[in-house]
This record gives sequence, C-alpha cells and structure tokens, in this order.
Amino acid sequence: MKFDVVTIFPEMVDAGLTEGVVGRARERGVVDVVAHDLRDYTTDRHRVVDDVPFGGGPGMVMKPEPFFAAMEAIIAGRGRPQAVVLLSPAGRRFTQAEAARFAALGHIALLCGRYEGIDERVRERWATDEVSIGDYVLSGGELPALVVIDAVSRLVPGVVGDEQSVEADSFGRGLLDCPHYTRPAEYAGLRVPEVLTSGHHGEIRRWRRQQALRRTLDRRPDLLVTAALDGEERGWLREWDIGVPPTE
Ligand code: ADE
Repeated sequence: MKFDVVTIFPEMVDAGLTEGVVGRARERGVVDVVAHDLRDYTTDRHRVVDDVPFGGGPGMVMKPEPFFAAMEAIIAGRGRPQAVVLLSPAGRRFTQAEAARFAALGHIALLCGRYEGIDERVRERWATDEVSIGDYVLSGGELPALVVIDAVSRLVPGVVGDEQSVEADSFGRGLLDCPHYTRPAEYAGLRVPEVLTSGHHGEIRRWRRQQALRRTLDRRPDLLVTAALDGEERGWLREWDIGVPPTE
C-alpha cells in the first residue's frame, strides 16, 4: 500500500508513523509512506506557500501552484494515485467503510491544508475525495492524514498480525467492541465477569455479542441502522428496547 502526503510539515507526518503496527509494516515494506515537503515545489526565494484571499477577509489561503507541481512530481516519480484525498473539516465524514474502500486501492495521495484552506482549484483539478475526521477544527490536515493512514494500513493484509482481531474490532461488523479483561481475575476489589472464566466457549461468544450490541444501543444507537445483525441479535434488541430498563 502506497501513500504520498503533501504537507508543509513532513517531519510531523513521519514522526507519527514510526511506532507500532504501522511502523513495523513500513520497515517491512508492506506500507510505503512518503511525506513531500510542499515548500520544495515553490519557485520563489522565500518558498512561500500562502497568499491573501481574493475578495478579502481574514487569514491566508494556500496557493495552488505548489500543490499542482507536487502532484505532477508524485505522478512522474511514483505513479498516478488511485485516489487523491483532501483533508478538510468541510469534507465527508471518514468512516471504517471509507477506510476499507481506500485500502482496496493500493495507492493514495493525501493533501494537507493549513491556514484558512487550500485554493479551490486544487480540489477541482486533483481531489477525488474530500474527507473530515470529525466535527471539530484542527490547525491542519496532518493529524487527519495520520488518522487516515493508520486506519487504512490496519486493513492491508499482513499489517496487523491477527486478522481476526481486525474483524472483531469496533466497527468491524458495524458495532462497538465488547469489554476485554486479562489476569488477575480479581483486582482492586473488581471481578472479571464469571462467564469469561467459565471455559464455556459458546457462552463466552454469546456474552461478547450481547455486550457489543448493548454498548452500541446505549452509546451509538445510530450505528444499529446499518449494522449487520442476525436473528438472535435482533431478538435481544427487541427485548432491551421495549421498556426494559438498562442493566447499568
Ligand atoms: N483540517 C482541519 N480540521 C480537520 C478535520 N476535522 N478533518 C480533516 N481535516 C481537517
């Protein structure tokens, strides 16, 4: 999986991708990330990347020319990316489904803005997608680009050791994850739920599915609209939803 990131802070992008499963995948060459310094694609002595907005108003706008030049260099040197993702709070919300779509592509470019935004012609000419990681405003697209790279990389075969754990994660089936426990069985007066130490694998599976569903109902009922539920799970939902008070 190849990523090309265009940014005025390439060190920030690199620093966020040296540890953990993504760091190891980069070392092994399964994931290939190149952060391109936008200022390398300026032509003036001061390497200026921003300018005042047409029409007036506060703040500065990122100039189109360095982004155009960076994209042309990426295509010439690394091939044409199958998606060019502009990070912006005005984009469509990034979801696990979007991460899966990008992971299937093999090569994506990510364009990071700073200041008030990027000249709209960059989006018009180059962007295939405009993506927001949530309804809050960050000071630039670098952290969102790291979020996208991490979420996409985990879905690339061979990046996360245990494929089953990717499947079981929150959102893997469109539900939140169930609670997890490890030893000791009692700590600080708090006990691990009995069923998990019972050795009854069928009961454990059932408990986990129930917990995942219960959490989703309590915290993110909006996810239930699109979650892939079986008949038994639909039955539990009907039980809990009809006037049965929450257990916690
Ligand atoms: N740039 C600034 N805020 C952002 C957000 N929430 N998502 C994506 N890019 C951004």
